[in-house]
Amino acid sequence: MPTFVQRLRESTHDVHAQQEQDLAFLSSLETREAYTGVLAAFLGLHQPLEAGLADADWTAFPPPGASRAAAIRSDLAELGWSAADIAAAPMCPDLPAVDGLPAAIGVRYVLDGSALGGLLIARWISDRLELPPGFAQSFFGGRGRDPRRDFRGFLTAADASGLTPAAEQRAVDAALETFAVFTDWLGEHAAVHTAGGAR
Ligand code: HEM
Repeated sequence: MPTFVQRLRESTHDVHAQQEQDLAFLSSLETREAYTGVLAAFLGLHQPLEAGLADADWTAFPPPGASRAAAIRSDLAELGWSAADIAAAPMCPDLPAVDGLPAAIGVRYVLDGSALGGLLIARWISDRLELPPGFAQSFFGGRGRDPRRDFRGFLTAADASGLTPAAEQRAVDAALETFAVFTDWLGEHAAVHTAGGAR
């Protein structure tokens, strides 16, 4: 019998591979403006998704950690966006329903996991755009967090959470829905390049 975390991993393996492919363009961003647009697109996901997770009962889990939406807002401010610009960034309206802890676990699995890829992306972007050390890299660079340690702690708690098979399935479905939301939103808002060309 696979553990809960193994189920989460196996079920999302293929969509993650697709996500990496869709976001490969982040290694060749040309300008700070393009980077700013990408950050704004991520804000439209992280801000409402984090808000949706805030009401879940995380007693048996490590605390969620520093807000990644706040990290994006701080990066955008360093890149020259005013508070009004940031407040006007579009927010994704079609989010997975967080109707209890199982769905919240599924969504958090994707968000906390994505912070691992973020560390890699931070390196691509700072090298490519020659950003000064630490400048506007709070979000991808994981400022205020330790993404690997946080994720390990989260996975350990998830496996110990004793969900029923049906609740595990709810978490897996929510994780898949979250990946789908990323794909759709970033495809529309972050100029993601697909095999069919730029859109
Ligand atoms: C260019 C884009 C991306 C790259 C290069 C990337 C890369 C990675 C890498 C290297 C890991 C494993 C890190 C480690 O074990 O230390 C990882 C894990 C993960 N990433 Fe990504 N990632 C990307 C985008 C995303 C996005 C957009 C999401 C979510 C929407 C995501 C969700 C996850 C999850 C859930 C895990 C944890 C998998 C597990 O171990 O259970 N990734 N990613």
